Amino acid sequence: MGRRSIAAALCMLLLTMTVTAMAERVNNSSSAGLFWSTAKEEEDLLRKADPNDDSTAASVVNERDDELDGGFSSLDGMLQWAIGHSDPVKLKETAQDVQRLSLSELKKRQLEIKELMERLKMPSDAQLMQIALDDLNNSSLSLEDRHRALQELLVLVEPIDNANDLCKLGGLAVLIRELNHPDTDVRKFSAWILGEASQNNPFVQKQILELGALMKLIKMVKSSYIEEAVKALYAVSALIRNNLAGQELFYAEAGDLMLQDLLRNSSIDIRLRRKAVFLVGDLVECQLENTHKAELPFLSNHLFLKSVVDITASTDLDLQEKALVAIKNLLQLRTTEALVLRDFCGLDGALERLRHQLKGLIQEEDRKDYAMDVETIRREVELIFHSKLREETKVPT
Ligand SMILES: *[C@@H]1O[C@H](CO)[C@@H](O)[C@H](O)[C@H]1NC(C)=O
Ligand SMILES: *[C@@H]1O[C@H](CO)[C@@H](O)[C@H](O)[C@H]1NC(C)=O
Ligand SMILES: *[C@@H]1O[C@H](CO)[C@@H](O)[C@H](O)[C@H]1NC(C)=O
Ligand SMILES: *[C@@H]1O[C@H](CO)[C@@H](O)[C@H](O)[C@H]1NC(C)=O
Ligand SMILES: *[C@@H]1O[C@H](CO)[C@@H](O)[C@H](O)[C@H]1NC(C)=O
Repeated sequence: MGRRSIAAALCMLLLTMTVTAMAERVNNSSSAGLFWSTAKEEEDLLRKADPNDDSTAASVVNERDDELDGGFSSLDGMLQWAIGHSDPVKLKETAQDVQRLSLSELKKRQLEIKELMERLKMPSDAQLMQIALDDLNNSSLSLEDRHRALQELLVLVEPIDNANDLCKLGGLAVLIRELNHPDTDVRKFSAWILGEASQNNPFVQKQILELGALMKLIKMVKSSYIEEAVKALYAVSALIRNNLAGQELFYAEAGDLMLQDLLRNSSIDIRLRRKAVFLVGDLVECQLENTHKAELPFLSNHLFLKSVVDITASTDLDLQEKALVAIKNLLQLRTTEALVLRDFCGLDGALERLRHQLKGLIQEEDRKDYAMDVETIRREVELIFHSKLREETKVPT
């Protein structure tokens, strides 16, 4: 059963269900026939089916961001998929056909479709992934269809079992190849999917690292197309998180220099800077949990430490919070010297400025809670900092 026919069957089901629901809602015993949904709804439906319309992509992706339930486990997801794969002209014809049916015909059609669906069996997530991968592997696929296949994969790989299946289907190699595609969105989506699949998944992390994608992703962080850079950094971060082998490779590929560049330059996109500071905090935390590993030299580099402290002067609360967490972790490393943070990086002054700024924000109703949370971290940093300073400046007795 091909993709188009599954899509057609699903669309038929959707239309039948919609019309029946409408009929039930406006149960008007004097009207024998049925009427189709409002023009607006129909227009929405057809607009969604228009492959040239980017809003489908946006809606799928945003939904993904908000509720991480993933997969096509819901009817909604299936229907969205079906509409996406249907021919808009056919869809419109079907809508008009359905509109002409009487209630009993409609009920009959509904039964037929139910039987069809049972016979068909809903394609499994693995089958849907295979379809998308076959599409991506087809060099004559249109760019629109390529984007759509990638968007589907993005949704599908979220559950950890699906991410593992993606490996088994040979999907990682296909996606890594797509990182070199001339189209920026294809590269962006491929990086995004690789990041999504690696999240908290050591098995997938290992496969992707072995396929050698880390170097390419680090290079992509420098892309002038900012969306691509953001997703590439997301993928890098997901690949090396809690993964010591990945982190070694990251340093070998000069990932630390890339991070320093992002931290030092305040004209770089804020999303990249947030991700970079977060990654620093994360790497240090991993270091703190693995005390047997030698501490990384770049983490005690004075200029690097100063760039992290300087970030607290930003006006972005999120960025400041992430910088504070990174500093808190850095202070707990054996190699970090509190004196350097005081005298070279000006941490004392930075913490005082922050205290002042947060005091103001705490008066603002809408930012109060967030500002209070950040203030709590700021105080922790202050405590650790001063206790470490006392240790270092203690006169030996
Ligand atoms: C319409 O209403 C009648 C009685 O009010 C009910 O018997 C019938 O099942 C309803 N039809 C639908 C399609 O809901
Ligand atoms: C029911 O249908 C009749 C004839 O089409 C129409 O005049 C009437 O307004 C409808 N009633 C409702 C409640 O929709
Ligand atoms: C590849 O894509 C083209 C264009 O969509 C299509 O005509 C062709 O059948 C596809 N090839 C395979 C092997 O699926
Ligand atoms: C994609 O095509 C290559 C050969 O061009 C093949 O080796 C690979 O197995 C295919 N991958 C998938 C997932 O179909
Ligand atoms: C800082 O980033 C901006 C924007 O990406 C770039 O144009 C500029 O060259 C960078 N400056 C330095 C010193 O790297």
